[in-house]
Amino acid sequence: MPIDVLLGLQWGDEGKGKIVDYLANNYDIIARFQGGPNAGHTIVIGDQKHVLHTIPSGVFRSEVINVIGNGVVIDPIVLARELNELQALGVDTSNIYIARKAHLILPTHRYLDAASEASKGKQKIGSTLRGIGPTYMDKTGRNGLRIGDLEHPNFKSKYTSLKEKHLQLGKIYADVDFDFEAEEKQWFDCLEKVKELKFIDNSYFINNALKEGKTILAEGAQGSMLDIDYGTYPFVTSSNTLTAGVCVGLGVSPKTIGKIFGITKSYCTRVGSGPFPTELDNEVGEELRKIGNEFGATTGRPRRTGWIDLPQLKYTIMLNGVDHLCITKMDCLNTFENIEMATHYNYDGNRTQELPYDLASDKLKPEYQSIPGWNEDICSIKDYASLPVKVKDYVQFLEDYLEVKVTMLSTGPERDSLIIKD
Ligand code: GDP
Ligand code: IMO
Ligand code: MG
Repeated sequence: MPIDVLLGLQWGDEGKGKIVDYLANNYDIIARFQGGPNAGHTIVIGDQKHVLHTIPSGVFRSEVINVIGNGVVIDPIVLARELNELQALGVDTSNIYIARKAHLILPTHRYLDAASEASKGKQKIGSTLRGIGPTYMDKTGRNGLRIGDLEHPNFKSKYTSLKEKHLQLGKIYADVDFDFEAEEKQWFDCLEKVKELKFIDNSYFINNALKEGKTILAEGAQGSMLDIDYGTYPFVTSSNTLTAGVCVGLGVSPKTIGKIFGITKSYCTRVGSGPFPTELDNEVGEELRKIGNEFGATTGRPRRTGWIDLPQLKYTIMLNGVDHLCITKMDCLNTFENIEMATHYNYDGNRTQELPYDLASDKLKPEYQSIPGWNEDICSIKDYASLPVKVKDYVQFLEDYLEVKVTMLSTGPERDSLIIKD
């Protein structure tokens, strides 16, 4: 069996958690392959809302194995908190496996993240301050500490020398508030909780599972426009968020990749700094924020909002090889008389559907097409055939433009608010 992939096509928060939780019923294994606790994946079951940061979104399906792959960076404090919260709710966490090759976020990585952001002033990335950038820097700089190092007797000395290095590095920045002693104590306490998880050599684990015919879904974090190579650099995260990241993040060959599910909202959001061509800095943007309850699942920050950007989606569909498109937050457009979509960019007088190198350029103006909204409540509709014609026209428009099949429409945060389309 191949590995299917599900990932976000915009700037994150597309509703990946909800859709993975839904699809997890069809898979034996759900595996996170990149990112870390910068992610916040929301799952609503009944009247309970859960936000996962490190743990894959298959955890609420008791038969499913949840793998935290080697491409993920782990903060033991966040992971221990997630485990404790799930266990308190009676959720079985014995099916969570963690890669020995996954890197650890040290307290001083978070300190460096905060100090670096503070030093940038207005140029700041708007990082989630979870230590993501500094941890991936240590990974590529070949200085990092990994989960597997916890099994070695010299772990403490490795930790101390990396911490010392960070403290030296920190001297280039102005002071930021950080309680080193308390953070370090909590970090070591939480490592004990992490040690309760099953440590695996995940490339063997996943490849053996494939040989045994197990079904696997790789769960992306962040969004394609936050990819370190192809996103809106430097306003991106520090990992490869694209399908390509699955291979290195889980230790599998490109030949193992199967279906690729891409998720987009029916509009667009971004949290943190950086270019966002279709951003609506006006009352329509405010309305979308209100209707969509657009506040960050990890940091609580208000999300920036705007209309759906089709050249942007065409780009990320191409980068990822998406063959199934899922549109979330369809219900959030219920009250709009007209729905706008950017169909082209005007770049320095030229009309194009391609993204220029500099998405922040003053020379770039999105061009919009307006289509009539359905202007009625579609939340109780469960099958595609029963949807209003105007919803179907909207879906058809996207399929034609993006040259990809829409196979899922989400109409609310709850598990069953989903319409499957053939
Ligand atoms: P993720 O990071 O991609 O998993 O997305 P987040 O959880 O950060 O943000 C998505 C938000 O939208 C969460 O609050 C979800 O509960 C909510 N959500 C997901 N799908 C829908 C939908 O179809 N309609 C509405 N109204 N909310 C949704
Ligand atoms: P999920 O998985 C939305 C954004 C941050 C910031 C930039 C870099 O929930 O979709 P980082 O902490 O990675 O150094 O921040 O990336 N960002 C996200 N935005 N959803 C996320 O994850 C994000 N993870 C990081 O806001 O702009
Ligand atoms: Mg999120």
